[in-house]
Amino acid sequence: MVQERYHEPVLVTEVVAFLARKPGIYVDGTLGGGGHSLALLQALDASGYAEQSLLIGIDQDYAALCEATGTLHAYAAHTAVVKGNFQDIDALVKRVCREKRLEPRVAGILLDLGVSSFQIDTAERGFSYLRDGSLDMRMNSDGELTAADIINTYEEQDLAWLFWRYGEEPRSRSLAKAIVAYRHNHGAINRTVELANLIRNHAHGGEKVIKTLSRVFQALRIEVNSELDVLRQALDGALRCLDAHGRLAVISYHSLEDRIVKTLFAEKAKSDWGPKGVGLREPLTYGDIALITRKPLSATPQEIALNSRARSAKLRVIEKMPSRSL
Ligand SMILES: C[S@@+](CC[C@H](N)C(=O)[O-])C[C@H]1O[C@@H](n2cnc3c(N)ncnc32)[C@H](O)[C@@H]1O
Repeated sequence: MVQERYHEPVLVTEVVAFLARKPGIYVDGTLGGGGHSLALLQALDASGYAEQSLLIGIDQDYAALCEATGTLHAYAAHTAVVKGNFQDIDALVKRVCREKRLEPRVAGILLDLGVSSFQIDTAERGFSYLRDGSLDMRMNSDGELTAADIINTYEEQDLAWLFWRYGEEPRSRSLAKAIVAYRHNHGAINRTVELANLIRNHAHGGEKVIKTLSRVFQALRIEVNSELDVLRQALDGALRCLDAHGRLAVISYHSLEDRIVKTLFAEKAKSDWGPKGVGLREPLTYGDIALITRKPLSATPQEIALNSRARSAKLRVIEKMPSRSL
């Protein structure tokens, strides 16, 4: 019998080529099943760098940490697996380095955003509208807010705002109204199928309903896990803990995430040339980072044919510049 993988890593060849260039500390902020981490360690090993390297793998999901520990077994001596939120990447890296008596100088960081195939496929986690499970959607099972809490307690206008802001759902208002009316008539909505059926009935079937289902489930997941705020904090933290010439690679899967990554990278890469028309030979201040990928990289058609999750993936990579202040 063929064993299904926990999660098929996306754009793995590209990530390894951009990151695994020298011995040092590497951080996988979204360890998942450890697929990217294993590929990074194997590449460092093949270059003779593994002995002087440490991979710090972070995930907020216990199930992922267990799976990755097994995947990275052969490299256990060069791996530190940590439960935590990547919004605290800076502090988590410092803590591990303190314990291991290493300077916290990071050569490469990967953030492969979102949820893993394993999380989506586990019905009881509630991430999928295709599977019957409790409306949970917490990546970290210690978290307090669930999708059911949102669906059953948010006011109509807050639900509408959520579906619009985080799902870009055009029928956000009428959908929120239908949910509140359903709550009033039938009581709490606690199962994924119950919510999915309500959305299907509201949309009167048709092709568009799949898009609405995806958008609403995406919006709930983002809210439950504060994904966008956490991402902003993580990018700042990652840039802080990178060493000069260290690289950060981010794979995003929807436009809300990618916009945050793109905007922050563009801002940090900008040099200050002073007021227009002054004609300086050198900028007043240089950008903190260099864009290694000017445009995001996408998966090849071959990869997409093998792994449909790769279809929406966008990879952006930057390199931290040495400080050039006098
Ligand atoms: C797309 S999967 C990563 C898959 C991984 N690259 C692999 O090769 O198996 C995303 C993982 O990041 C974790 N994650 C998402 N947001 C997180 C956060 N804010 N802090 C820590 N882990 C997070 C999820 O729990 C999930 O396991």
